[in-house]
Amino acid sequence: MIKYSGSTSRQVVIVGAGAVGVSFAYALMIKGLAEEIVLVDVNRARVEGEVMDLSHGSAFAPMQSIRAGDAGDYGNAALIVITAGAAQKPGESRLNLLERNARIMRAIMGDIKASGGTAPVIVVSNPVDILTQIAIAELGNDRRRVFGSGTVLDSARFRHILSRKCQVDIHNVHAYILGEHGDSEVAAWSLSHVGGTPVADICAGCGCCDTPLASAVNREAVLEQVRHSAYHIIDAKGATCYGVGMALVEISAAVLRDQHSVLTVSTLLQGEYGQRDICLSVPCVVGREGIVRVITGSLSGDEQRGLDASAAILRGRLQALLD
Ligand code: NAI
Ligand code: 2OP
Repeated sequence: MIKYSGSTSRQVVIVGAGAVGVSFAYALMIKGLAEEIVLVDVNRARVEGEVMDLSHGSAFAPMQSIRAGDAGDYGNAALIVITAGAAQKPGESRLNLLERNARIMRAIMGDIKASGGTAPVIVVSNPVDILTQIAIAELGNDRRRVFGSGTVLDSARFRHILSRKCQVDIHNVHAYILGEHGDSEVAAWSLSHVGGTPVADICAGCGCCDTPLASAVNREAVLEQVRHSAYHIIDAKGATCYGVGMALVEISAAVLRDQHSVLTVSTLLQGEYGQRDICLSVPCVVGREGIVRVITGSLSGDEQRGLDASAAILRGRLQALLD
């Protein structure tokens, strides 16, 4: 039986108080999952301003505290979430951020290691899969403890589109985006269902839309919409923050409450889905110590080829960084 963690320390440290870190802190405060939220940023004035602003909402949120902190807080954390680093500008891909953010990630991991703390670490900064792999290597190759937010956000975008098309409550839509959190991500149609019915069968007799999901062309259009979501938002308003902030609350709840939630987080694969020594998103059971296990579903031939292509792209970029 899954037990509530009962942990007395529910301190969540968020590294990076930019658009993503602060949206996450705001959503986390409203949910009341943490006893204490600590925001860390190299821009001290910004982090103090954000903390002051958020703390003025305390009267309207569950009991908790929020403060600015520093690397000295890593040792006591129950969870550390990394949102620090450069973000995409219009026209940039996530992979364009690699060199800048790899340096930042290594420095932060050095501080976490020096703190002696053992809290799970969630990497959010992009490109999230490669940065997760760097973080795992820097923190002693513990693939349970360190993982990326991966395609949890993309899977939510996928579910949103399907729920609108099928006119079904999003909570009854279980659908997964796998692979890179980026341009090569893969829709796992064969693992996806609406109210228990496989997506391929849901259109028969439905008539809610004129683009049935049994058609490969219509499926590709849905996937393209998912892949393009971030570009569209960044072009329109400069950054994505609320969707990811809420996705991070969901992942944090899985850790802080030891929920054993199935989430498409980015994990270091060791033979699962035919891949080894590369971080990719696949369905994982997430609990108090991080990744409890990888769920190994069976993909269609096209989906497996898509996942292999995602792995090859990320492996190439990682190798180029290390050369
Ligand atoms: P932002 O520019 O608004 O904030 C980044 C913050 O990181 C800044 O406040 C900066 O001072 C801080 N920072 C830089 N180096 C630091 C260090 N060494 N220690 C502590 N803080 C440091 O950027 P935004 O929009 O918040 O995005 C943050 C990252 O999250 C980006 O890499 C972005 O691509 C990524 N992201 C990932 C998503 C996902 O689903 N994985 C979704 C949305 C954004
Ligand atoms: C997102 O998908 C940019 O990775 C970020 O919203």
